[in-house]
Amino acid sequence: MVTTPHSAMESSLVVASNRGPVRFERGEDGKLVAHRGSGGLVTVLGGVLERDDATWVAAAVTEGDREVAPRGRKLEGAAQRVRYVDIPEERYDGYYNGIANGILWFAHHYLWDIARTPTFDERTEHDWADYVEANRAFARALSVEAKHDPIFLIQDYHLTLVPQLLREMVPDARILHFSHTPFAGRTYLRTLPVDMRQSILRGMLGADVVGFQGRQWGENFLLSARELEDVHVDIRAHRADVDGRQVQIRSFPVAVGAQEIQEAAATDRAKRLRSQVEKIRGDRKLLLRVDRLEPSKNILRGFLAFELLLQKHREWRGDVVFLALLSPSREEVPAYRDYGADCRATADRINATYGKEDWTPIVLKVQEDFTFAVAAYDRYDAMLVNPVHDGMNLVAMEGPVVNTSGGALILSRNAGAFGRLGRHSLAINPFDLSETAEAINEALLMPEEDRTRRARGLQRSALAHTPATWLASQLRAIDEVRPPSP
Ligand code: F6P
Repeated sequence: MVTTPHSAMESSLVVASNRGPVRFERGEDGKLVAHRGSGGLVTVLGGVLERDDATWVAAAVTEGDREVAPRGRKLEGAAQRVRYVDIPEERYDGYYNGIANGILWFAHHYLWDIARTPTFDERTEHDWADYVEANRAFARALSVEAKHDPIFLIQDYHLTLVPQLLREMVPDARILHFSHTPFAGRTYLRTLPVDMRQSILRGMLGADVVGFQGRQWGENFLLSARELEDVHVDIRAHRADVDGRQVQIRSFPVAVGAQEIQEAAATDRAKRLRSQVEKIRGDRKLLLRVDRLEPSKNILRGFLAFELLLQKHREWRGDVVFLALLSPSREEVPAYRDYGADCRATADRINATYGKEDWTPIVLKVQEDFTFAVAAYDRYDAMLVNPVHDGMNLVAMEGPVVNTSGGALILSRNAGAFGRLGRHSLAINPFDLSETAEAINEALLMPEEDRTRRARGLQRSALAHTPATWLASQLRAIDEVRPPSP
């Protein structure tokens, strides 16, 4: 076992993710202003790193970011420094839209309509070359940070090749790769072109610790890695031996930062938005969903299940509003755009069929507004979280942390969050419209005592873990694989 002078807990941290904690834009006065990035990864890591001696390396997405790259900048009010990797626009398109979100996202969430998609061709080869080069650019930027022997925390499916590339540049580096998504099963992963699949597996095995949201995805990874030549896998020990190194495969389920949500809920803007939500609800029951607008979230089936509820339980017509807060996501990828259009058309059709002058069954808001979501969390009667597959799903935890009215949670068995919240929620198979419609009915009719008991359980379970404990467990795992020298 290779030892190291410092324990991971005492080491500085270098995080790498595609999206950074902030993006820089020039304000009217000509100064560069930092705007908070969006998405679950930033929410989880942003809070916990603010207090640490950390450098965050991300892809430049704005002109402002490009100006800040590669020297980086300290964030106001935080110990953290951010640096950007300037990837040429065309290459970024192949890497982010083409491979990461156009292919890998679909693989890990089982999203293909397998009789027709995917098909791989020259375009894929071109995009794959961009993905490789973008990962190489990240590895180079990280190698510059290696002087003080930090812990490298590489995030997600965008950067699967980075651990191996970085190890070639800095052989003793302590590296952890973490996937915020599920990881495709062995058979499904074999859909990928063979070179892409093997490169991804070998790339991730460049880390000392490969982390997932849940044990089942670590096992999927190991079952695929077992097929690689010269890699010895011990599934029971959650371990792979590669090039004379030991790689541990572990699960580190993420948690929400309660403080950040509670602070957002206490702002004046949140108060104003709460009255807007109350106006939308009127004297009806409120069913809520909050999601990025993309296919893994299963928004379309959510609307169809709601329609089924209105058909099977006619008494709800006029007495329930379904508020869907959806933030635009990855609109450059045609499949996401088409899915978004289908969702809007379905909501319009349902509203035209069942709506009345004084009642719109589905109120759809497509906007990027975290505070609006937090305001809506306050008093929903039921919240629908029905992803087809999901690494964790932070919304399922954020809602119960804020909700003050004993709101019920209808939760997909395929969301990572189900492991924590399942027993307090109404469980659904996300593909089963009848089960989902009945769960909505049950949630809306749930007696007070049952609601309160479940809501307390949801809140307790959501708050039992924090982003800080999530990070600490990863650092402990690094110390186990690369123990500090005595
Ligand atoms: O859930 C996977 C994930 O990559 C998160 O880690 C991230 O916060 C989210 O999707 C948003 O993705 P994007 O940066 O493409 O908007």
